[in-house]
Amino acid sequence: MKLVITRRVFRELVERLSGAYEVVHNEEDRPWPVEELASRMQGASGAMATVMDKFDEALLAKCPDLKVISNIAVGYNNIDVAAATRRGIRVTNTPGVLDDTTADLTWSLLMAAARRIAEADAYVRRGDWKIAFGVQYFLGQDIHHATLGIIGMGRIGQAVARRAASFGMEIAYAISPRASGGTGAQRTQFDGFTATPLILDELLGSSDIVSIHVPLTAETRHLIDQKKLARMRRSAYLINVARGPVVDEAALAWALKEGVISGAGLDVFENEPAVHPDLIPLENVMLVPHLGSATRETRTRMAELAVSNCLNVVLGKPPLTPVPEMKVP
Ligand code: DGY
Repeated sequence: MKLVITRRVFRELVERLSGAYEVVHNEEDRPWPVEELASRMQGASGAMATVMDKFDEALLAKCPDLKVISNIAVGYNNIDVAAATRRGIRVTNTPGVLDDTTADLTWSLLMAAARRIAEADAYVRRGDWKIAFGVQYFLGQDIHHATLGIIGMGRIGQAVARRAASFGMEIAYAISPRASGGTGAQRTQFDGFTATPLILDELLGSSDIVSIHVPLTAETRHLIDQKKLARMRRSAYLINVARGPVVDEAALAWALKEGVISGAGLDVFENEPAVHPDLIPLENVMLVPHLGSATRETRTRMAELAVSNCLNVVLGKPPLTPVPEMKVP
């Protein structure tokens, strides 16, 4: 049985699989171009893939033996799930095992952006720090007791909010990304914190820090555009660790440049690994290369879960974590 692993994963894992299966493993750790991916997939029963590998109708049509696409990621916007389902191909992801790690990275960006850490670090390294202490050096935004607005109160959003509770923050969340009706504003009890449900516009207008945790869908693409950014406070910060295309990057660059908002922290981008050129020179945005789940422990857990999902399906068993559209009845 042939299994394809589209990006470099941990050696022990590949060695374990190689004992029992024909394993094609991308040792070079660069995404295979479409044609190469298609040719590597010939005769494969299972694929373990990442968000950079696009499994669309055209590719699936070239993979007649494929039984499962096991994403090593919680997001699966790289896969045409409807097309896979039509062809009887199961799609799985890795929910649950990366929530805390992604929440930690969110907080790293949040604190670093609001307290202007990258900017200040660059200032010191450039040799610009000439006078020992300045009352107005790099004034940032208080995090404690500020209002955190969460867009996407799923597992990761909740893990972010739980951390906020210990900073004494007010927590609000968007009831549904595109909802426009009024809210009762009754606080909702979650595990470890309470939060106020608001429509998105209210949330944007009342939050000091806005953090995005929605999946990328047709509904959430460019959810945060120029109009939405203009609703935010001038003193506010925007954090995105979800998917780049949820934010209109050109509009964000405009908002950061014009002082429409104070700053941003981005782990994800519209066209990774490209970053919108207007963002690069801006000092009030922190840019990191899609590191949300990047710790050894968590990436190992993700890869292990992806392997289990893949093997379960090729061996005729139900996958552990199929994507929602494909839940076994
Ligand atoms: C995920 O798990 O979706 C991360 O973004 C890594 O792809």
